[in-house]
Amino acid sequence: MITVLEVAGARPNYMKVAPIHRAMLNAGGFAPLFVHTGQHYDWEMSQVFMRDLGLPTPDVELGVGSGSHAEQTAQVMLRLEPVLLERRPDVVVVVGDVNSTLGAALAAVKVQVPVAHVEAGLRSFDRTMPEEINRLLTDAMSELLFAPSPDAVANLAAEGIAREKIHLVGNVMIDSLESLFRRAQDSDVLDRLGVKPGEYLVATLHRPSNVDGDASLRLVVDALSMAAASLPVLLVTHPRTRKRLAQAGLSERVASDGVQLLDPLGYLDFLCLMSRAAGVLTDSGGIQEETTVLGVPCLTLRDRTERPITVTEGTNQVVGLDRERIEEAVRRLANGQRLEPRRPALWDGCAAERIVDVLGPRFS
Ligand code: UD1
Repeated sequence: MITVLEVAGARPNYMKVAPIHRAMLNAGGFAPLFVHTGQHYDWEMSQVFMRDLGLPTPDVELGVGSGSHAEQTAQVMLRLEPVLLERRPDVVVVVGDVNSTLGAALAAVKVQVPVAHVEAGLRSFDRTMPEEINRLLTDAMSELLFAPSPDAVANLAAEGIAREKIHLVGNVMIDSLESLFRRAQDSDVLDRLGVKPGEYLVATLHRPSNVDGDASLRLVVDALSMAAASLPVLLVTHPRTRKRLAQAGLSERVASDGVQLLDPLGYLDFLCLMSRAAGVLTDSGGIQEETTVLGVPCLTLRDRTERPITVTEGTNQVVGLDRERIEEAVRRLANGQRLEPRRPALWDGCAAERIVDVLGPRFS
């Protein structure tokens, strides 16, 4: 049996770990050990995703919680190290680019357990983003690098990472979307929110660069208000964003401008809502990928993306916080422009199987 310690900590991790977990069980010969760091802990940021995605109850809960970057990363290391020493897994699988990813990878390499990084090689080339630091360091420490797209492979090669460590396997997040899309269509979320297919926009924003400063948050709110003049905007808020809107005294203004402030939604409800939207405004990375496959126009309210394939081969448009660009793009959305679903190579629902096909021979 190959013992694989799989780590999830924050919301965007669950939809990446779930297909890998399932693929290991289907393949046989693997003993997956599911560790939840507790970086995210609210029901609607965490447990609802495990339920929707069919993940088991974690074997180990580290209970790390919120804190500064140093606190969070260090707590993951401190709490994971004894688990690694006791269980001695053959490999640790980390996904994405959150603080839990970095903390777990660092704890593992230090006790000489090899690390496999899923979603390796994505680069925004902006080192002020905490995720960019997490990506660079996790990739530098990993023995196996599972890349979602050719641009990611090229980034890793340019950093001098040995070619034999890099495996182009496709996008595991799309595995989850593929396996749950049909079930998501049974969600009654549109009725609950009182909206009709194609007649609303979905917005999600939580990046520190957009919501932590009052000036940028005001620009974000301006953009949403402007969009709401064309179509109702459903702002599905991250706890961080809701808190910041209240602190900046902007919550009431948002609501009065026709933007509906919603609590976070589970995976199935959100997938349903996104799949039937006229468009999405976001600063999330995963949503740029999901809208590409769904054929839903996506406006990314950031200056750059670490997922350029969603622009070159998908439905994504990187508009920053530029008022004119957003206005022009929203006008096109309001006219009902719908795009063809796009599928970058290997975004086919089978990425996790390819990962397991590499892990099997390597560690047996
Ligand atoms: C983290 C990731 C980010 C990812 C995002 C998805 C890092 C550096 N960032 O950012 O890449 O896109 O998750 O959500 O790892 N909070 C709650 N309940 C929770 C979790 C958080 O209320 O369950 C609040 C806390 O006030 C916390 C704040 O949200 O301080 C931020 O949480 P944190 O995990 O530090 O970062 P995210 O912004 O969620």
